[in-house]
Amino acid sequence: MTGQTKRVVVAMAALALTASSLAVWADEDADLVVNGEIEMVVRTDAPAHLDGAVRTIYSGWVFRQDDTQAMQMDDFDNPGMLFAEQGQELFNTAMGANGESCASCHTNAEDLTRVRATYPKWDEAHGAVQTVEMQVQECQTESMGMAEAWGQNSQEMLNMTAYIASIGRGQVIDVAIDGPAQATWDAGKEIYYTRYGQLELSCANCHEQNYGNYIRADHLSQGQINGFPTYRLKNARLNGTHNRFRGCIRDTRGETFAIGSDEFIALELYVASRGNGLTVEGPSVRN
Ligand code: HEC
Ligand code: HEC
Repeated sequence: MTGQTKRVVVAMAALALTASSLAVWADEDADLVVNGEIEMVVRTDAPAHLDGAVRTIYSGWVFRQDDTQAMQMDDFDNPGMLFAEQGQELFNTAMGANGESCASCHTNAEDLTRVRATYPKWDEAHGAVQTVEMQVQECQTESMGMAEAWGQNSQEMLNMTAYIASIGRGQVIDVAIDGPAQATWDAGKEIYYTRYGQLELSCANCHEQNYGNYIRADHLSQGQINGFPTYRLKNARLNGTHNRFRGCIRDTRGETFAIGSDEFIALELYVASRGNGLTVEGPSVRN
């Protein structure tokens, strides 16, 4: 055992990480069809850029228990859909100095079908990679005359991103990682493999090397973000991507980056690209 491997094993032991006692994961083979009509890709070949680090990518849905899985299979049972509906109402509500709603310009919401599947995305005008939240904020301050855009982690923003995700459910994720986005992607990749906190654990130590194992009572997934925002049973609300990243870094007893920071934007692009080939599931249901 190398010194490095030994350190990971020790840190994992501190978190009571155990291999599954079951021969197969309880729901490894389950398929996800929402409302009996939207067919999701919950497992598929890993994108080429992962270069064999994992062969197959899995949606976090696969790792959840039967009852949690079931909640996401029907919109009437998915509490996240109530928030998506509130997002839809906001989409049609006038706001800002110009008295416009989102729908004033985006008259056909269906035009936003590919948004969740392709963001974060390079924005030429701003010369930066933008998340969906940043794009919404840009519309608010630059097109709608709002003095202050919604905060990235505000309830309004979570509802709106849940609505935008819901429009794109079932779309295959295809986030661009080359061209002008590549430097940001590289930065995100570096963060993914950096060890944080007293436990000195990277995202990869848990989500690449140990998915399928149990950490305390939790079944470790690959940490994909195709289901965001997610409705978590734990706090009974929608949770955004950066908030989840923050929680995971805190669990390593480490200092974390801020929601909306350049670091988390880069990490979001990188993690999104690890899910290229899965489908948009937001708003999903998780523990
Ligand atoms: C005054 C017109 C206008 C209003 C109102 C407006 N937008 Fe936009 N929006 C645009 C334009 C123009 C673009 C494309 C240009 C760009 O990428 O910056 C855009 C782009 C977008 C995109 C990205 C689309 C894509 O295919 O990449 C999203 C998502 C979006 N808007 C959401 C919203 C939301 C949510 C609201 C309400 C809070 C809103 N917009 C209000 C004009 C508007
Ligand atoms: C100590 C182990 C550990 C580390 C390190 C860790 N996570 Fe997690 N993460 C978890 C656990 C446990 C969960 C909840 C179960 C699951 O979905 O895997 C989780 C959940 C997630 C989810 C939600 C997945 C879903 O489908 O809803 C994402 C996204 C995520 N982690 C990303 C990250 C990223 C990015 C990093 C690095 C900054 C990271 N995690 C570091 C343990 C970890």
